[in-house]
Amino acid sequence: MSSDTGPTGGSIDTVGSGETYDEGADEATGDPDEGVSDLPLAPYPPNLGHPKLHALRQVQDPIAFSNRASAVRDVYRIWLPGLGDLTQVTHPDHMKRILLTEREKFRKSDDFGIAFGDGLLTVEGEEWAQQRKTLQPLFVRESVMGYADTMVEQVQRRVDRWTESQHLDLQSEMTDLTLDVLFAAILGRELAVDGDEKIRRSAEALHDWFLPTSYPLPRWMPTPARRRFREGKRTLQQEADRLLEEASRNPPSDPTEADDLINLLVGLRAAGVTDSGMLTDERLRDQMVSIIFAGHDTTTTSLTFALWALAEHPDIRERFHAEVDALDGPPTAEDVEEGRLEFTDKVVTETLRLFPPVYALPRIADQDVQFNGYRVPEGERVGIIIRRIQRDPRFFDDPTAFDPDRWTDEFRQSLHDFAYAPFGGGPRICIGRQFALLEAKLSLATIGRNYELYYLGEEGEHDGPPLSPQMTLRMKEGQEFLVTER
Ligand code: HEM
Repeated sequence: MSSDTGPTGGSIDTVGSGETYDEGADEATGDPDEGVSDLPLAPYPPNLGHPKLHALRQVQDPIAFSNRASAVRDVYRIWLPGLGDLTQVTHPDHMKRILLTEREKFRKSDDFGIAFGDGLLTVEGEEWAQQRKTLQPLFVRESVMGYADTMVEQVQRRVDRWTESQHLDLQSEMTDLTLDVLFAAILGRELAVDGDEKIRRSAEALHDWFLPTSYPLPRWMPTPARRRFREGKRTLQQEADRLLEEASRNPPSDPTEADDLINLLVGLRAAGVTDSGMLTDERLRDQMVSIIFAGHDTTTTSLTFALWALAEHPDIRERFHAEVDALDGPPTAEDVEEGRLEFTDKVVTETLRLFPPVYALPRIADQDVQFNGYRVPEGERVGIIIRRIQRDPRFFDDPTAFDPDRWTDEFRQSLHDFAYAPFGGGPRICIGRQFALLEAKLSLATIGRNYELYYLGEEGEHDGPPLSPQMTLRMKEGQEFLVTER
């Protein structure tokens, strides 16, 4: 399928460093003395040469655009109004260099900082290292396993309200479910199952900052989406203040014993810890809002697509139901740890391969760099298209098929370490990945023991349901599922 010359060893060199570039240099057509040239625009659409028309196609259907462009080469440039030139890479070697081996040459996109201030998602350097170390205890295996019962309680509480033959918009239902879990487990605040609408809508509004339609507009320009974002953020900050104040009245004597974010932070503050990089009121708020943003829409999307895949593949659904029916009762952390949800685990893994919620990772080049002999200048945006990488036939047989059985131990071991990276990679790999995976497996098992779901929505254009690419790759709103009791 791909006619790319292949970047198998293609390095990203600092331009002018004097290091020779070998692989992939034949792609470049520029100055032979330097061996580098400016990256051409994406080879799509072939008959439309002007950058603004490329941009139009990219904004209309980014999935189709990157599919076509990456079929020709693993690195290409696009141009977007408001953002300018943007390089996209679609090979795991490039991803590995950006996130791991040459990560000092790239920084995170400044959009996150503008939107969320100085939380873990955004800060860089020493402050990032301190924040990561401070938050890590909440996300290590033992802590995460400790959230299992709360997760199952929250899921059960919500699905108990489903009724026979009900039609459900799962994207919206799973949003409520993952907020229930995140608030109860990490933020130590149970949301009302039929209430707390303001908080729920505010959490959703955090994504409105990143609507593709806003890109061309200057950041200061108020739009309805940006207004929703600001109001949502303000509501969540007020809630953070309230929770912090409440917890500060009775802080835990030993912060290492704290089992939620609020108690950890106020405990550290009360203990006089000063080097965590995150204990001012403002930082505490930023942290909460960042975790709410990073931790709910991603899991919502994974669950929605996993339930779609189960609904659309009867043979796989049957094996999944057989596995969850064989459990002694509601799923537990032990069921996960002792391999009793092994097939469910593969369903989740395969869902995150075909439908990675974070389908593209944005970075900015901090210095001039090269990909396959093409120059990417300092300051240019670079996007890693995870969705393409995880559907690359060079790494996955029959790449568009939903096939949980491909995940044998042997296959996992032989796979390029960045060919499957739904949680990113390198030091900034998702801190919440174990939490997310546990939540996904326990949620699916709880739902599967009670209900069977059938998909009633439309067919999409890209081997699956219709998509809505925003900051995460969601299922388009309004796709319904039929609930049947088991
Ligand atoms: C299936 C669910 C999830 C997916 C696919 C996902 C994906 C990712 C990815 C790709 C990154 C790397 C971003 C980058 O390098 O620019 C990331 C970072 C992050 N994620 Fe997740 N995530 C998920 C769930 C969660 C959850 C449940 C939480 C918290 C409760 C969370 C919190 C974070 C945070 C705080 C970061 C920033 C880490 C750092 O920079 O050190 N994520 N996530």
